[in-house]
Amino acid sequence: MTTTENHSKYDSDTRAVTLRVNGREVTREVPTRQTLADFLRDDLDLVSVHLGCEHGVCGCCTVLLDGGSVRSCLMLAVQAVGHEVETVESLSADQNALHPIQEAFAEEQGLQCGFCTPAMVLRTKEILADGVERSDDEVRNEISGILCRCTGYQNIINAVQNAGRKLRCGNSGTCAKEA
Ligand code: FES
Ligand code: FES
Repeated sequence: MTTTENHSKYDSDTRAVTLRVNGREVTREVPTRQTLADFLRDDLDLVSVHLGCEHGVCGCCTVLLDGGSVRSCLMLAVQAVGHEVETVESLSADQNALHPIQEAFAEEQGLQCGFCTPAMVLRTKEILADGVERSDDEVRNEISGILCRCTGYQNIINAVQNAGRKLRCGNSGTCAKEA
């Protein structure tokens, strides 16, 4: 679908918006009723933003807005004006130099079909920002807003904890007191 076709489905006025996405300032003319999810996917080709339910239940459309997770299907693009949006594309542009969170998900097999994975990875980045180690139950609670239909969650919990060790203690994931 072209940008023009995508915009026509909203049948609404348009407005110029300027925001930062993955570290770059972008300005576009968007329909006032266009969701942030459609803006990211259809106007900016950031297709890691996955749409499942499109009404705020599954969490698979999660992106970071000023560092905090939001459901991009429930937010309008015009509401993001002046904010910083991060999608999983921002973590690493090089497949041979993955972000420690991505490495942890790969090592722990924290994904199967991958549909929930961009949201899980971004949520992991958010919850690990404070550098605090978390128990299984704490991680389970922190990721409970994102539904995964494949993994049974335990490998995702392992991946979040492994990512935390990598971020706190280096890429080996082995902290001195745990060695
Ligand atoms: S697609 Fe946004 S919460 Fe499901
Ligand atoms: S890996 Fe398939 S939905 Fe989570």
